Amino acid sequence: MVKMWLIGLFLMTLTHTNADYSALQAVLSQKGLQKVTHWLTDWLQNELSSIVLPKVSGGVNIGIGTVSYVLHDMTIKRCDLPEPSVAFSEGTGVSLEVSGLSIAISGSWNTNFGIIHDSGWFEMAVYTVTLKTLLQLGMDDERLSISAPVCSADVGGVQANFHGGGSFIFQPFVEMFSGRITNEIRAQICPAFKNGIEGLERHLAAMSVALKVDPYVYINISLTDSPLVEYNGLGLNVTGEFYSINSPSEPPFSPDSFELTWQDNYMMSLGASEFCVNSAAYAYHRAGALQIRIRDDMIPKASPFHLNTSQLGPLIPQLPKKYPDMPMELLLYTREAPMIFFNKTLISVQLLASAKAFAMKSDTVAIPLFRLDIESSFIAKAYIDKELVKGFLQMKSLTVKLGATEIGIFSITPIERALKMAMNTFVLPKVNGQLKDGIQLPFVKGFSPKNSVMTIENGFVAVAMDISGPSDSRQ
Ligand SMILES: *[C@@H]1O[C@H](CO)[C@@H](O)[C@H](O)[C@H]1NC(C)=O
Ligand SMILES: *[C@@H]1O[C@H](CO)[C@@H](O)[C@H](O)[C@H]1NC(C)=O
Ligand SMILES: *[C@@H]1O[C@H](CO)[C@@H](O)[C@H](O)[C@H]1NC(C)=O
Ligand SMILES: *[C@@H]1O[C@H](CO)[C@@H](O)[C@H](O)[C@H]1NC(C)=O
Repeated sequence: MVKMWLIGLFLMTLTHTNADYSALQAVLSQKGLQKVTHWLTDWLQNELSSIVLPKVSGGVNIGIGTVSYVLHDMTIKRCDLPEPSVAFSEGTGVSLEVSGLSIAISGSWNTNFGIIHDSGWFEMAVYTVTLKTLLQLGMDDERLSISAPVCSADVGGVQANFHGGGSFIFQPFVEMFSGRITNEIRAQICPAFKNGIEGLERHLAAMSVALKVDPYVYINISLTDSPLVEYNGLGLNVTGEFYSINSPSEPPFSPDSFELTWQDNYMMSLGASEFCVNSAAYAYHRAGALQIRIRDDMIPKASPFHLNTSQLGPLIPQLPKKYPDMPMELLLYTREAPMIFFNKTLISVQLLASAKAFAMKSDTVAIPLFRLDIESSFIAKAYIDKELVKGFLQMKSLTVKLGATEIGIFSITPIERALKMAMNTFVLPKVNGQLKDGIQLPFVKGFSPKNSVMTIENGFVAVAMDISGPSDSRQ
């Protein structure tokens, strides 16, 4: 009994520690589904317009023999697709129904009765066509898969006009010809639709799960769970881990579980966990992107300190004695990847950086002077206003240590004080000025967010939004 219990506990810990939680979650609401369907209506209309109708032939016994006929060169002239109605089908995918679809066809006919040949052309309207289908969403090889296992089509009405030839001969069969063509259309609608879905599926299957973000990093967008379809939305859990392109490696921390609230009033909800953001910081750090070379011309004229060995004399007395009147440069870089935490409305940032100082003998000859190790923490607020991320950054602490020196020991206290002052009077006001103006949300080309709201939750950041797409302005 106890043994069973222990095995159970062991299995539980096993599955628990092996769990690979998603760092990105996305939810499409019913409102969002309607929007996506709106965008896909043109595509669907094209798929249906490209239906190829095969030649139809047959014979009719008229008592004194058989009239044989061929209907050929049938082409779809026009296809009018009303916007489909869509709904989530819990546990499966999306049910889609089109009613009132109409298709205009033209073609040619030939009849043969013994030595009598006749031919002409026709036009035909097939209307009140309905298409009912169920799109099944699943996961295949850690990607979203889509299929249309259920599909049915029906034709409500037909109107045909036959022209040419001595049409009276075969006028009695018109009814029947219409029936044949209608059947043909009915038989082709679902295959045409499925063909389109298969094309979409091939596209999804060929998509790389490693999405390049910029020259430094990529993000893994493979699914961690099967898509979750509820009556009110579709949830996708995505790995959401960033890697350096040059030196990809796992960060020394792992994802935690989080639960994004589904917002029915917005088309889409997105959640990114601390792990997602920190893996990005880690990836950029590893890629060497988090470093900057600071020259004196980058420092505001008004600053009391300049990168000049003479001017730093009051802080480091031996510096101008050893290297009088030389311009300096600072190489500022993250010593470890910055860590970011989300804590209900607040963002905190921990930064371990180093600054290497050089005296520039010439543009290319740099004499190493010393290295400062800086430890600092910040708190930030962030929100979205008019589709721009805005916020405010505040320094919580900053300590400086002398990490290495080529010019002997000097007191760090005045440098630390000067750095704090520079942060508070020059750097942060500049950063906060930019944060006040706002930063654009990154988005897929052609689409833009609308009515976005952002909230900082415990362990993750959530954004809910509507989306407007390229075809929306045509409404
Ligand atoms: C993406 O993540 C999945 C699971 O977390 C993993 O199996 C896959 O190898 C990763 N792919 C890349 C390109 O990082
Ligand atoms: C995503 O993961 C969370 C736990 O981390 C879970 O509660 C949620 O149901 C998952 N959603 C999907 C779509 O699988
Ligand atoms: C360094 O600062 C001094 C004093 O302000 C100035 O006279 C000198 O031109 C500066 N030297 C360089 C190389 O910028
Ligand atoms: C988040 O806030 C809670 C409660 O205020 C605190 O105990 C916790 O240490 C904070 N976490 C971080 C990472 O700041």
